[in-house]
Amino acid sequence: QAIAILDSGVGGLTVAKEVMRQLPREKVIYFGDTARTPYGPRSSEEVKQFTEQIVDFLIQFDPKVIVIACNTATAAALDHISQKVDIPVIGVIHPGARAAITATKTGNIGVIGTIGTINSGAYTAALKQLSPYINVMSQACPALVPLVEQGDFRSEHTRSTVSESLNGMKDKPIDTLILGCTHYPFLMEPIGQVMGPHVKLISSADETARETSTILYDKGKLAIGDETPVHQFFCSGDPVMFQSIARSWLGE
Ligand code: DGL
Repeated sequence: QAIAILDSGVGGLTVAKEVMRQLPREKVIYFGDTARTPYGPRSSEEVKQFTEQIVDFLIQFDPKVIVIACNTATAAALDHISQKVDIPVIGVIHPGARAAITATKTGNIGVIGTIGTINSGAYTAALKQLSPYINVMSQACPALVPLVEQGDFRSEHTRSTVSESLNGMKDKPIDTLILGCTHYPFLMEPIGQVMGPHVKLISSADETARETSTILYDKGKLAIGDETPVHQFFCSGDPVMFQSIARSWLGE
C-alpha cells in the first residue's frame, strides 16, 4: 500500500520529497493536476470538485493515507474528503501553522499563499487556534505558481516578480513567513533574498511528512522490510515539463 499525494501541479513534490526522505521505505503515488493548474484563482466549490475527482482516481490504488499537498485544496476540501473516504487524509495547513508557531519568537507571522488560501482565512484560523496571541499578516501572491509550473525558479523575471509579489509583506514586522503554497519552496532562494535573513521561511513539507509518519505508526501501517520502493507519478497535462521538474527536484 502506498502514500497517495496530490496537488494542482508540481507544488506537492515539495511535500513528496520530504515524505520520501523521512519515510524511505514507503511507496508514493503522486498526482499533479497540471492541466488545470493554478487552483488559486478558482472558486472553492470548483477546487473541491477537482480534489474529489483526483481522490476518486487515487483511491483505486488502495492507498493507506492521502496527503492533500496543496493549501488551496486543503482549505477547500480537506473536511469534505476526510468524511468521504475511510482512510486518513492529511492536509498541509495545520502542519504549516504548527511549524510557524514553533519557529516564531515575536508572535508576528506572515502568510503568503494563493488567492483561495488567503481568502479562506484557514491559516489565520489554524494559527489562532494554536495561540490566540499570534499576530497574522497575509498576502496573496497569484503570480508565483505559474512561474514554478514553467520551471522558472531563478531568472531575472522570476526575481522581479517575487519581489513585486512580496511588496506588501517585506516591510512588515514579522520574524516568520509561512510559505502557504506548496509551490513556493521552489522559490525559497529568491523569496529569502527579498525578505532578508531575519525572517524564517516555513514550508509545510517537513511537518506534513512528520504527521504522515505519526499517523502510519499509530495505525501500525509503516512499511517494513528493506526493499526500495518504486514511486509512481501522474499528471493531467503535458508530462514533459512535469517530468523535468520532478526529476531535478527529487534528484532522480
Ligand atoms: N500548490 C498549491 C497550494 O499549495 C496550489 C497552487 C495553485 O494551483 O494555485 O496552494
